[in-house]
Amino acid sequence: MPDLITHTKQDESRQGEAYSPFVHEPVTYGKKFYIESYGCAMNFSDSEIVASILNENGFGATKNFEEADLILINTCSIREKAEQTVRHRLQYLRGAKEVNPGALIGVLGCMAERLKSKLLEEEKLVDMVVGPDAYRTLPGLIEEATDGQKAVNVLLSREETYADIAPIRLNSNGINAFVSITRGCNNMCSFCVVPFTRGRERSRDTDSIIRECQDLFDKGYREVTLLGQNVDSYYWNNGQQGAESVTFAQLLERVALISPLLRVRFSTSHPKDITDEVLHTIAKYENICKYIHLPVQSGSTRILQLMNRTYTREWYMAKVDRIKSIIPDCSISSDIIAGFCTETEEDHQDTLSIMEYSGYDYSYMFFYSERPGTLAARRYADDIPENVKKRRLDEIINMQRKLSHESNLKDIGNTVKVLIEGNSKKSDDDWMGRTSQYKVVVFPKAGHALNKGDYAMVTVDDCTGGTLLGRIVG
Ligand code: SAH
Ligand code: SF4
Ligand code: F3S
Repeated sequence: MPDLITHTKQDESRQGEAYSPFVHEPVTYGKKFYIESYGCAMNFSDSEIVASILNENGFGATKNFEEADLILINTCSIREKAEQTVRHRLQYLRGAKEVNPGALIGVLGCMAERLKSKLLEEEKLVDMVVGPDAYRTLPGLIEEATDGQKAVNVLLSREETYADIAPIRLNSNGINAFVSITRGCNNMCSFCVVPFTRGRERSRDTDSIIRECQDLFDKGYREVTLLGQNVDSYYWNNGQQGAESVTFAQLLERVALISPLLRVRFSTSHPKDITDEVLHTIAKYENICKYIHLPVQSGSTRILQLMNRTYTREWYMAKVDRIKSIIPDCSISSDIIAGFCTETEEDHQDTLSIMEYSGYDYSYMFFYSERPGTLAARRYADDIPENVKKRRLDEIINMQRKLSHESNLKDIGNTVKVLIEGNSKKSDDDWMGRTSQYKVVVFPKAGHALNKGDYAMVTVDDCTGGTLLGRIVG
């Protein structure tokens, strides 16, 4: 599943190649832009929309920021550390102004939305601040900034979904792609800044999603991940009289029907919203991956209430049971926060035990970071000492390590279907791919005439850390 938490700079290996969405040959552009993305998959996906808008306006991508006329950093506010990382990076990127004093620096994304024009005051060399719903106005903002004005647009929209914009795949292996299906979030988890930075939830036109997925398949892509903060609340109705509405389960089905060779993933599911209809759809189609990211956040009902997650420990456990009964081979992953306001040792033990109960194959784990303006920041004291938060987080990480290892051991001896994503990191003699359950598998090419994007049946013989090792069979 796309890593919703790491703040790594994206691999820029393909950024030097600028492609127009409408022609298949590289084209030449008058000016160059450089973009770095932080945060969740939504941000990486948005950068591909920004790239498309810039291409249309005469900017081609470069992977070298020192030769760029426009340097953009697509930012994340989810935890304080995420913002610090961006600030450090901004200081570094300013070096470009020494080489090219005319270069413009723009901050995009969630930090732009959270801090607005304050960013221009704090970070003196920033020329543009552009929120996640304002990317269509980038060309005008670039003009304003070129004229020496400070350009800001952080207006949030109730409608914008960029449905008609064909994203430019910036960092692509040509096999996996993200496709946004909703934007914003209407939940109010008390710890979370996203509703403030991304605005109200809205769904994208179903036909535009299907067109984008079909186009990806035609171009050789073999896996799409449907993205939203809460995909299960996807709901589309084009407003015309008599027009049928489309639920998330129906959307999943329509994407799955594009081709049995196209794998379909999605992220993220809020436990309160994932329906039996969705679970039955996953079970029905072999190409809908048997993997659900179902963030629990905490195993304690009291803490879940303070977090405003709207489910109890028991309710979540029943949802896990339901998933396993409808899709027995489904893997489940989670997001977990250690040390939320007032968390006791007993609450923490509840988190460890719900992890065991759910048997998570992976988790993304954090300690609580108070975000200004959120419900939790206004209502509750951030009262768990840092050393306690970190110790609890370590225990959570160790529990996950044990669970992931147990899950991998269960795969030994099984034959799994793997979508080949490319060479393994360590050797060009080995392929790397993933199972439907999102597990990484490495296996020798061993004289078989296979390519990236092909499926292989692989028997698992062993595992190391997070990787299954196997050999092609049949
Ligand atoms: N929409 C998704 C993910 C949102 S952000 C969902 O609802 O699951 C990804 C994860 O970051 C969250 O699931 C949560 O575990 C973590 N997170 C969000 N705010 C945080 C905060 N203030 N401190 C620590 N972790 C946080
Ligand atoms: Fe944040 Fe909750 Fe919305 Fe996820 S569902 S983005 S955690 S408010
Ligand atoms: Fe970060 Fe914004 Fe995503 S705060 S996690 S980039 S929605």
